[in-house]
Amino acid sequence: MTAPVTGGNPKVNVRPTSMFGTIGHAAEQADACTMVIFGATGDLTKRKLFPALYSLAAEHLLAADFAVLAVGREMTENDQSFREKMRVALGESDEVKHFDDAVWQQLAQRVFYCGCTAGEPAGYDAIQTRLTEIEQSRPEQKRNRFFYLAVPPSVFEPIVRHLADSGLAPRHVDPQARPWARIVVEKPFGHSLETARALNALVLSLFAEHQVYRIDHFLGKETVQNVLVLRFANSIFEPLWNRRWISHVQITAAEAVGVEARGVYYEEAGVVRDMFQNHLMQLLALTAMEPPPSMTADAVRDEKVKVLRSVRWLTPESIPTSAVRAQYSAGAVKENLVASYRDEPDVARDSQTPTYAAARFFIDNWRWKDVPFYMRSGKRLAKRYSEIAIHFQSPPHLMFGGEAGHRALQPNVLVLRVQPNEGVSLNFEVKVPGAAVALTQHLEVAPVDMDFSYTEAFGESSAPAYETLLLDVMIGEMTLFTRSDEVEAAWKIIDPLLNYWEEHPASPMPTYPAGSWGPAEADRLISLDGFRWRIP
Ligand code: BG6
Repeated sequence: MTAPVTGGNPKVNVRPTSMFGTIGHAAEQADACTMVIFGATGDLTKRKLFPALYSLAAEHLLAADFAVLAVGREMTENDQSFREKMRVALGESDEVKHFDDAVWQQLAQRVFYCGCTAGEPAGYDAIQTRLTEIEQSRPEQKRNRFFYLAVPPSVFEPIVRHLADSGLAPRHVDPQARPWARIVVEKPFGHSLETARALNALVLSLFAEHQVYRIDHFLGKETVQNVLVLRFANSIFEPLWNRRWISHVQITAAEAVGVEARGVYYEEAGVVRDMFQNHLMQLLALTAMEPPPSMTADAVRDEKVKVLRSVRWLTPESIPTSAVRAQYSAGAVKENLVASYRDEPDVARDSQTPTYAAARFFIDNWRWKDVPFYMRSGKRLAKRYSEIAIHFQSPPHLMFGGEAGHRALQPNVLVLRVQPNEGVSLNFEVKVPGAAVALTQHLEVAPVDMDFSYTEAFGESSAPAYETLLLDVMIGEMTLFTRSDEVEAAWKIIDPLLNYWEEHPASPMPTYPAGSWGPAEADRLISLDGFRWRIP
């Protein structure tokens, strides 16, 4: 990152690469490569991948002969028709603020399409033929490729096998080998600990770990990366960052959207697999990990794995008082009436899939012993809002506001806003101006916020996560991708909860009205410990 923050509120452009790489990543350092997208006619490609590619092109961050080979099942599609669809998608995307046709035309001429049935070897011959055409102008050493698997888990296995067997993506033990071949895998990575292990075993029998980029797009979000900078590039927070000063932590990922057209996927996944196993566990790991010796990918990931392995496992005895699940009922979100989860397309009328969950975890190590980490996530909540809130202990002795009529003082809260309005705020108590003391014998005290907003400080909203992550793949920067042991450590935490809930269906399933902040059961969960959920 190249933000020269030296006093004042500089208006600077922040490059979208992850902060962990060498300072000065730029177009000339992103290797020439071809991105091969499997699942190119799907939603992710048009909603996330192409807007990210377009922005990288607009910022001159792609190598001059970067190319995309889009692979999809549609046999009638061709280069021209695919380019046209992507252009329309860019026009509709919220992530493309100013569409410049000249930028698009330049990128579009490097976009190609190949119709292929991913399960059949013949398809890979067709891909090879197209890659040979695309790469012919590049010297052999620069025929780098990354294969982006934007596909459902059921076709994941045949694709990686064919990629390896066909020689399209050779295994490279040496990370410096050129041309490189990388595999980018979208979540969900497995459906359980067992399936994640099997998937890791398969992938690692075909490729080396340094070739595998497991995406958790939350790690590409600016504020998520900022957790480490805030903690470890400042000296004022770290001494307080422990059980002595922190009473509890609340991690929230709230969404206003429902399951939309993803009923089939969501019925299988539910909120715990969709949000907790990956995104929320990553937020927990970054918040709770020890300082790594350096910011290299493995040093950071080693610390994340260590903390995930210290999370106390939930048991059948602890689950009833440590976790709640619920589904949204009909309600109003931003004044629009919306249907209940069970009335969504492709959802069973008696579905047991939770769309909301809240859980309390403990981390059994010296730093965090007995500090509860509350996590919650749900669809169709009041608004889209994600944050990490660090709640500090109350002062040991209070001299203010002791009399009736004076409200109880609020402990300090440090809030890391992940989205929207990315930033950081610290809430603390101040004296209300006025001379009431002499009359009432009491200082009047009120909470105020000290607030940092990314947009105000840097003049631009942060780069979308996929932009950062795609560029990181091109430059070989792995810090923001999850390693195999990390994925398995997260599943180990989540598996007992999923198994228990599958064996003990809720009867009836708790509900919360769409547009609310979740079920009453979640309020009870946290209030048993004497706390309340923050309402953003
Ligand atoms: C995805 C989940 O990983 O993250 C979605 O599958 C969810 O269900 C999305 O909506 C949330 O991400 P963001 O970046 O929109 O907050």
